[in-house]
Amino acid sequence: MLSKRAQSLKASPTLALVAKAKELQSKGHDVISLTVGEPDWATLQVAAEAGIAAIREGDTKYTAASGTIELRKAIAGKIKNDIGTEYGPNEIMVGPGAKFVIFSALQMICDPGDEIILHTPYWVSYPTMIELAGGVPKIVECGPQEGYKITAAQLEKAIGPKTKGFLFCSPSNPTGMMYTREELTALAEVFRRHPQLVILSDDIYNTLVFDETKLAPHLLQVAPELKDRLVAVNGASKSFAMTGWRMGWAAGPTKLIKAMGDYQSQATGAPSSIAQRASLAAIRHGEPEVAETVKTLVRRKNAGMAVLRAVKGFEVMEPQGAFYFWVNLRGLLGRTHESRKVDSDSVFCDILLNEYFVATVPGAECGSPGFMRLSFACSEESFAAAIERMKTMIAKFK
Ligand SMILES: Cc1ncc(COP(=O)(O)O)c(C=O)c1O
Repeated sequence: MLSKRAQSLKASPTLALVAKAKELQSKGHDVISLTVGEPDWATLQVAAEAGIAAIREGDTKYTAASGTIELRKAIAGKIKNDIGTEYGPNEIMVGPGAKFVIFSALQMICDPGDEIILHTPYWVSYPTMIELAGGVPKIVECGPQEGYKITAAQLEKAIGPKTKGFLFCSPSNPTGMMYTREELTALAEVFRRHPQLVILSDDIYNTLVFDETKLAPHLLQVAPELKDRLVAVNGASKSFAMTGWRMGWAAGPTKLIKAMGDYQSQATGAPSSIAQRASLAAIRHGEPEVAETVKTLVRRKNAGMAVLRAVKGFEVMEPQGAFYFWVNLRGLLGRTHESRKVDSDSVFCDILLNEYFVATVPGAECGSPGFMRLSFACSEESFAAAIERMKTMIAKFK
C-alpha cells in the first residue's frame, strides 16, 4: 500500500522522544524532559488576546493562501527594522509554522538529485525534509574546533556540480552558536563565486540572543546583494511562545515566494486566520514581552552553565542564543554503567531516560555522535535536578 517515499520516512526523532517521556510519565515516573524545542512560558499576552478577539469578531475564515496583506506588511516592517532589508508584500509568504515554510521552500527549489549543503550538528528535521523534496543532503562535519560552524573553506569544498543550496540556522539548534559578521562575510565571498546557489537562512531563534545586540547578525546585513537568492525564514513559535499556533513565514525572491504560496495553496490552504491576527499583534506590540523572555533565558543559561561545569566528563560551549546546551560526552563514552557498555550518545541517553527519567536528545540525531542536546526551556530547578540525576548516573560509570 505504501509508496517508497512513505516506506523510507522517519518520524521526527525529537517528537518520538517526547512521546517516550510522556509514556514513562503516564506510568507514574517523575520524568524531567529536556528534549523539547519549545518555550515553557505562555504565549505573549498581546498575541493571545488578539487571537481571542479574532475569534470573537468572527475573523475565522480563509485568508489569502500566503497570508493577509496586513501581516505580510508587518513582517516586512519587522525585517526592515531588524536586518535593514526592504521587502514588499509579494516577497513574503506566511505558512503553518517555519517547519512547513522550510519544507515548501525545499520542495520548490530541489529537482531530483540536487544537493543541499548542511553542516553538523544540524536541526534533526533538515535532512529528511531535503530528502522528501527529492534532494540529497550534503553534510559537512563541524565540531568544537570550528565552534560547530561551517568555515568558508569547508563550504567552498562542499560545493559541486549538483549543489543547489545551503541551509543553515543561526543561532543554532542544537548548539546555540551564532555566526559573527566576519564569518558571514567570509561565507558571502563563497556565495559570490557560486551564483547558482540558493541560501536558506533559518532565523527562527534570531531574537533569542544573549548579548547586548539582541539580534543575531544576518547574511543580508553583510551581503545585501544576496537578497535575490536568499530565503529568510522566521516564525512566531520561539520568540512569541506560539508553538501551538503554527505560524511561520519567509521573505525571499518574488518568484520563489509565489511558488511557495501556490504550493501551500494546494497543500494546506491558507494559514489560520486566528494565528495570523495573534502574530500581527505580537510583531506590533510584543517587543517588551520578548525582552523579558530573553532576560529569563539569560538567567537560565547562566544557572545551567554553572551546574553543567560541575559535571566531570561534560564539555559545553556557552550558548549565545536559542535555548539549548550542546554537551560533548566523548570523554565519558566507552565505559560501563551497571555492566552495560556506554559506547554511544544513544546508549547514554537511553540509560538516562529509562533509569534516571531524564529525557534528552542524542547528538547522533543531529548528525554528531558523541554529543547530547539539553533544552533549558524549563525551570532552573528542573534543570538542576536533571543534572543531579546525570551526576548520579555518571558516578556509577566504571
Ligand atoms: C531550527 C528550527 N527551525 C525551524 C523550527 C520550526 O518551528 P515552527 O514550525 O514551530 O515554526 C524549529 C523548531 O523546533 C527549529 O528548531
